[in-house]
Amino acid sequence: MRTQVGIVGAGPAGLFLSLLLHRAGIESIIIESRSRRDVEETVRAGVLEHWVVELMQELGLGERMLREGHFHSGITLQWNRERHHVDIQGLTGGKGVTVYPQHEVLKDLIAARLAQGGEILFGVSGAAFRDVDTDHPSIAFSRDGAPEVIACDYVVGADGFHGPGRQAIPASLRTEYQKIYPFGWLGILTNAKLSWPELIYTNQQDGFALLSTRSPEVQRMYIQCDPADDIANWSDARIWDQLQIRLGTDDGWTLTEGPIFQKGIIPLRSFVCEPMQYGRLFLAGDSAHIVPPTGAKGLNLAVADVLVLSRAMEAQFRHNRRDLLDRYSAACLRRVWKAERFSWYMTTMLHKNLHETDFEQRIHFADLDLVRTSEASARSLAENYVGLPFD
Ligand code: DHB
Repeated sequence: MRTQVGIVGAGPAGLFLSLLLHRAGIESIIIESRSRRDVEETVRAGVLEHWVVELMQELGLGERMLREGHFHSGITLQWNRERHHVDIQGLTGGKGVTVYPQHEVLKDLIAARLAQGGEILFGVSGAAFRDVDTDHPSIAFSRDGAPEVIACDYVVGADGFHGPGRQAIPASLRTEYQKIYPFGWLGILTNAKLSWPELIYTNQQDGFALLSTRSPEVQRMYIQCDPADDIANWSDARIWDQLQIRLGTDDGWTLTEGPIFQKGIIPLRSFVCEPMQYGRLFLAGDSAHIVPPTGAKGLNLAVADVLVLSRAMEAQFRHNRRDLLDRYSAACLRRVWKAERFSWYMTTMLHKNLHETDFEQRIHFADLDLVRTSEASARSLAENYVGLPFD
């Protein structure tokens, strides 16, 4: 097999990239270790930055998102049993909050790419990048037990944190920056009615909780927990108890409970690999950087990477200009570090960290109160929430 751009990974980075390359007249093939069903059903975060919503529409993928997504003018922050509305739309000149889950985005992207005749090979194993420091890189893998190779002009590791992409950059040439948080998130899906018209991020009593939504009948909620905890320790009653405590107010509001049909625990990590490029290999999305989920930047950052990469590839293939490809890593990392900062800020401000001093805990509540009282602080949060401009 041969293609211009070989992509490992059919997540947001790989799929958006193949669609953007197709629009620019550049061929690509995606390989993916999971089945199509696994990719389409894994539950992840749900907030799209404003420009991602526009990009979906530009690519002709907006129809179901506009019909089934939820548009909020702001978010609610809560502490001391009080709620504060952050008017994201008003603070950003009209950009609101779109809740449309990642796996729904992926379904739309996969359907669109296949409808174009694009190749996505699901369920392959042993993906490996070869000769990435030469002019003829390739991707080796096995399909149904038989070895195959895709010869490429360029290769992309859109293969997540545990994929082979990052490891294909020699360890001596990369620097990894990491922070592990001493808490995780327990996420649930429940059949319950909407309890509040926008997302609530709260830091109260035992720490963080997030109230989000999936549809008028299905709600998504998270609570801070020990990352090493066993989900078996969390009965539905205990989960509701904690949600009631952390989301509780004194104004008569009630949280609507319902049957929980999905639950799981994820750890929280910040991670950046520099550089994001080596020879003809480019990293995009989680293979190069991880953010903790507070603020839902993961998917949005992955799409930002491949927007930069697709423009650089277009300059190379159409105009024989290498400079944008050479600047890919530096251009992405400027934006990545700002999203890392924002995700870290939201995470530290909104969680109870038993390893911190009481002094630091107080500072986090001062940060929250600053968003309530300072328009500059609220605007900074809002600008980051809807997505920073590309410079
Ligand atoms: C969701 C997840 C997030 O991390 C977030 O900040 C907001 C919403 C969600 O899954 O709905």
